Amino acid sequence: MTKKLLFMLPILLLLGFSLTAIAGMGQEKEKHPDVDFTQSCRECHAQVTPEIHKAWKESAHGRMNFSCYMCHGDGTQEFHVKPGSETCISCHSDQEVDFSQSKVDNCFDCHQGHSLKFHEN
Ligand code: HEC
Ligand code: HEC
Ligand code: HEC
Ligand code: HEC
Repeated sequence: MTKKLLFMLPILLLLGFSLTAIAGMGQEKEKHPDVDFTQSCRECHAQVTPEIHKAWKESAHGRMNFSCYMCHGDGTQEFHVKPGSETCISCHSDQEVDFSQSKVDNCFDCHQGHSLKFHEN
């Protein structure tokens, strides 16, 4: 595992640099498809991705109305297809995981994003 990571490092660095270069050239970052944002995420996604909407709605976050944009961004200024765990700690400080001691580096390595159920990778 460690050997593999060391081998990957130059490739990852190179990738990092070229991505930065591309971003510097004014290319766009992650983008949501061009849609009518006067509708809410939930209104529209109840139609376009009904399973995701349902899983979210029945989860602890859905029941509390903790909505899509909290993880994915507002879809225009900010958008994350695969959100990270940065926003979790503000509400779940007691869940802070020392990722340096762990094989995983993201809450979503263990929790499904919408149902929040534990899953094994
Ligand atoms: C008017 C409709 C509409 C609205 C409003 C909308 N979306 Fe979407 N969204 C879509 C469609 C259509 C897709 C593409 C679905 C597919 O490919 O199956 C999509 C895709 C996505 C994806 C997956 C993108 C990918 O590249 O895989 C995410 C995440 C997402 N939307 C989140 C949001 C969030 C968060 C909001 C609110 C800020 C939002 N959407 C508002 C219609 C909408
Ligand atoms: C707690 C954080 C969180 C919330 C809230 C959330 N998502 Fe996600 N979403 C994720 C994560 C993480 C992924 C990446 C795939 C995964 O692990 O489930 C994802 C992936 C997606 C995708 C890509 C399709 C896929 O399965 O990979 C769509 C579409 C999407 N979310 C829509 C939504 C919509 C619509 C809402 C609100 C109803 C929402 N998400 C709320 C975390 C979240
Ligand atoms: C706005 C506050 C808030 C944020 C931010 C937040 N959560 Fe939550 N979350 C809650 C609340 C409230 C509950 C329900 C009460 C509880 O179980 O603590 C909950 C419950 C959960 C549960 C338990 C689900 C269950 O069925 O028991 C998981 C897992 C979870 N959140 C993961 C996450 C992850 C991962 C993130 C980061 C993307 C996140 N949360 C961000 C408020 C938040
Ligand atoms: C190594 C796997 C793993 C990681 C990483 C992880 N969790 Fe969990 N988490 C679990 C397991 C296992 C449970 C209990 C089983 C269940 O009911 O889902 C749990 C339960 C929870 C609960 C339910 C409340 C409780 O105390 O039982 C919350 C909230 C939660 N996790 C939030 C988070 C957040 C936020 C992160 C990221 C900072 C995170 N988890 C990262 C495995 C993980």
